[in-house]
Amino acid sequence: MAKYKVADISKAPHGANKIAWTWQYMPSLQFLENKYKAAQPFKGATIAACLHLEAKTACLLLTLTRLGATVAACGSNPLSTQDDVCAALAEGGVNVFSHRGMTIEEYFAYVRDILDFKPNVIIDDGADVVATVHKERPETIPSILGASEETTSGVKRLKAMQDDGALKLPVISVNDAFSKYLFDNRYGTGQSVWDGVMRTTNMVIAGRTVVVAGYGWCGKGVAKRAAGLGARVVVTELDPHKACEALMDGFDVMPMEEAAKVGDIFLTLTGNISVIDERHFPLMKNGVIMGNAGHFDVEINKPDLERLSDHVEHIRDNVDTYVMKDGRRLNLLGEGRLVNLACADGHPIEIMDLSFSLQLEAALHVYTHKMTPGVHAVPPETDRAVMESKLAALGIGLDKPTQKQTEYMKSWAD
Ligand SMILES: NC(=O)c1ccc[n+]([C@@H]2O[C@H](COP(=O)([O-])OP(=O)(O)OC[C@H]3O[C@@H](n4cnc5c(N)ncnc54)[C@H](O)[C@@H]3O)[C@@H](O)[C@H]2O)c1
Repeated sequence: MAKYKVADISKAPHGANKIAWTWQYMPSLQFLENKYKAAQPFKGATIAACLHLEAKTACLLLTLTRLGATVAACGSNPLSTQDDVCAALAEGGVNVFSHRGMTIEEYFAYVRDILDFKPNVIIDDGADVVATVHKERPETIPSILGASEETTSGVKRLKAMQDDGALKLPVISVNDAFSKYLFDNRYGTGQSVWDGVMRTTNMVIAGRTVVVAGYGWCGKGVAKRAAGLGARVVVTELDPHKACEALMDGFDVMPMEEAAKVGDIFLTLTGNISVIDERHFPLMKNGVIMGNAGHFDVEINKPDLERLSDHVEHIRDNVDTYVMKDGRRLNLLGEGRLVNLACADGHPIEIMDLSFSLQLEAALHVYTHKMTPGVHAVPPETDRAVMESKLAALGIGLDKPTQKQTEYMKSWAD
């Protein structure tokens, strides 16, 4: 019998329908489940997962249980947890600890709840579980085989831990696989951020000036889709190469202090702190929309915004209007948390099918191999196999090199 702390277990049938809808569009995960089902490769494994608890994640967690694992899961963000999905997961045999709108204290209590299951494998999204193990439960480290990490900001933290000599666990950086960042970060974020902005505001994007902070994998996707929707796009960057890339992709590039004056919609995707803060709020036009899609809610400085405002109106679901002392109204979406998850359902299903296929393979690798502490890449053959299975599911074939071509590519003579 699964243990759970969820908001309302009676919502399970609604959550189960969401999961059933999602599962039909996850051919790659289905393929892996069928491939491994007979062998039950996770028998004996206890997996602690901290992920965005919505329907696509539910499909991964249920697959892991069907492959033999005991799974304990908590939500990785207060506004990305869907209560009905959590209820369905609890009914489906997953141990679940989360509710939408949880406080930061409740969030860390839930992280501890999943660690109480004494996991031997961790699936993390933002590195909080791995960091908590190191800070609060170092004595459990020898019993943990390792972890896998989903996102850029989590990998950045883990690499910082590694550089400090603090990382005592092996962690596979799922984020750095081609099958992850080329698709999830770029096309997944690109589409779902606009889904979040549009369903929350009901506003037209065409003709507006959209400021995209950060032209990394996520920012590129968001900028491209903004242009497709008819927006004028302005990019802000710290990195000269990324700035030049944005320019050559056809976008304006300028510092945030200039962009603040012209933007109608601001989206941050940097993984950095205070990208929009007290330097910028006074320069903005009345009625601007601001959203963040970076992992942590520190990119738009909420304390600065609050300090500079006269009062805040909660005007619409997921929209807080900060009324400034001069009367301008600056709108923040989803409390500055991941806008595509707080204000929509996160990445499209088919995109997460790829990312979660990698997560499954990474967790299996961690469970079946003895790895050394440190941040590890996804094995290249796994990365390729996941993409091949995706193409096969879409009915798309690849050319195979001829003998002559293979020899030519290896030769150095004329
Ligand atoms: N919303 C989602 O669903 C989702 C999905 C994947 C990743 N993420 C998160 O999005 C963030 C970005 O991820 P990524 O993969 O694009 O990272 P990335 O490293 O590819 O890109 C980040 C870019 O931001 C730039 N940057 C940093 N500080 C800046 C600043 N002050 N002003 C302007 N530009 C700045 C960097 O130069 C870099 O080009 C991370 O926090 C990641 O965890 C979110």
